Amino acid sequence: MALPKQTFDAVIVGGGGSGLRAALQLSEAGHHVAVFSKVFPTRSHTVAAQGGIGASLGNMQEDHWLWHMYDTIKGSDYLGDQDAIEFMCRKAAEVVYELEHFGMPFDRNADGTIYQRPFGGHSQNFGERPVQRACAAADRTGHAMLHTLYQRNVRARCQFFVEWMALDLIRDHEGAVVGLIALEMETGQVVIFQTKSVILATGGAGRIFQSSTNAFINTGDGLGIAARAGIPLEDMEFWQFHPTGVAGAGVLITEGVRGEGGILLNAQGERFMERYAPTMKDLASRDVVSRAMDQEIKEGRGVGHEKDHVLLKLDHLGAEVIQKRLPGIREIALKFANVDPIREPIPVVPTCHYQMGGIPTNYYGQVVVPRGDNPAEPVPGLYAIGECACVSVHGANRLGTNSLLDLLVFGKSAGDHLSQWLKGNPQQRDLPKDAADRTLARLDRLNQATTGENVAEVGLDMRRAVQQHAGVFRTGQLLSEGIDKIRVIAERARHTAIQDKSQVFNTARIEALELENLVIVAEATLVSAEARTESRGAQARDDFKERDDRNWLKHSLWSMEGSRLHYKPVNLQPLTVESFEPKVRVY
Ligand code: FUM
Repeated sequence: MALPKQTFDAVIVGGGGSGLRAALQLSEAGHHVAVFSKVFPTRSHTVAAQGGIGASLGNMQEDHWLWHMYDTIKGSDYLGDQDAIEFMCRKAAEVVYELEHFGMPFDRNADGTIYQRPFGGHSQNFGERPVQRACAAADRTGHAMLHTLYQRNVRARCQFFVEWMALDLIRDHEGAVVGLIALEMETGQVVIFQTKSVILATGGAGRIFQSSTNAFINTGDGLGIAARAGIPLEDMEFWQFHPTGVAGAGVLITEGVRGEGGILLNAQGERFMERYAPTMKDLASRDVVSRAMDQEIKEGRGVGHEKDHVLLKLDHLGAEVIQKRLPGIREIALKFANVDPIREPIPVVPTCHYQMGGIPTNYYGQVVVPRGDNPAEPVPGLYAIGECACVSVHGANRLGTNSLLDLLVFGKSAGDHLSQWLKGNPQQRDLPKDAADRTLARLDRLNQATTGENVAEVGLDMRRAVQQHAGVFRTGQLLSEGIDKIRVIAERARHTAIQDKSQVFNTARIEALELENLVIVAEATLVSAEARTESRGAQARDDFKERDDRNWLKHSLWSMEGSRLHYKPVNLQPLTVESFEPKVRVY
């Protein structure tokens, strides 16, 4: 079937922070760039990032990129690659000042410098005391950042395809990426985009969980696309539970609340974090705080009829601080918890927030896969950045504020690297004749199925299964039961039908395509988590309570074909400084 075709130098899948940052770098260098987004770019999930961007500017107290690097490595529970972490922390000030010059409306100190607040796990002098490192625009930092980057891209004449969903990569017989197949959501039109390169920047897949701070669009499309194209997924067992999702609703309450002085209380009114993390207390790293909260709830000190949450108290900060620094949080608390935090505490519970794993890349954003003896061979023409990528700077647990930093640093780095590569590789490569066959077969099945299960029901069962079997605390038995369940669900997802055919070109078909991607991510998560017989960062195994550096200082690589796992070692060697050797984490 002849499909319409368009041609670009670079196609970027995703219009969030990382996609926009890379697009800007490429467009300003004069390349012909297309950005695909399922939603208007300024509605991408980056818009929900609240607390700040980590960078050791030292505006509030003395700070240093090496301390930031140490905090990131310690936060990652030593699973982060130290070359990439050094690269990111050293570049942090530069990318923040760039944003400032693009017009980002940061909060200001009296002397005009960017305001920075404390955040979990950020410390001075290698863990001695908390430091204010999060560069903030009130509690709407991601929102401000997206608008700044989008406007700058419009100025650079980047071309946006809004309400388009990417379906599959096209690779040639040498494995090079030469195109992308995408679907216009409104009309159902499928188009082939012939391109010299593709950057996957589709964000996370937190919608595999039932309780999630993620937007509904976070369905792991980039991960599904990569896995179907034969790319393994790295460290998918590691999902961060943010300590403060609104109980029952899952909406994010920024760690910035605790940065500004908010505290967590159990049913006895006790500030329990003092017992779990004597130095950093409520500002210990997220895995530590989430586990402590879960422990309090399990031991009967939870709040409410069901004793199933704890309280985040901030009334003591005073109305003025709350209205100035945390206006969005007050709005969320009023709307989703029916409490005014100026007077009452917010009911909170750990909620799935961030995927540390993803498509394996180096710090230029090139997708790298093991080939023969080479553990990291770049796939020609393919890049991945942001939450869908695994560089790996977050290891087993991301430090708060490093997500926005990651978007900026690696978005820019990928844009720069690709721009250079395009200059040396000006030819479009040919598309294979059967480029779209497999994708069209998938779509045909979906369009023609007259009987089958309802997409929403299968999706709900998938989210329930992942929540139940891959939550904060895991065991081998729980995970292996989860794998069985998810395999049955995957089979059901292959036999869904769109009952209301009047919707065939709209949401129902998109949801079915998204479900295919989510199910891939769910299986990768459960299989990788079951195999890792240790507790590290966000992976807390009740049956293997200790971290096991002898056997598990390595990244998992899950391949879709045969649902197989491989491993590659963690890079403990930074670029220019001495290695931070793994030690016991105390906060
Ligand atoms: O708590 C927050 O504001 C979230 C920030 C982050 O995930 O880095």
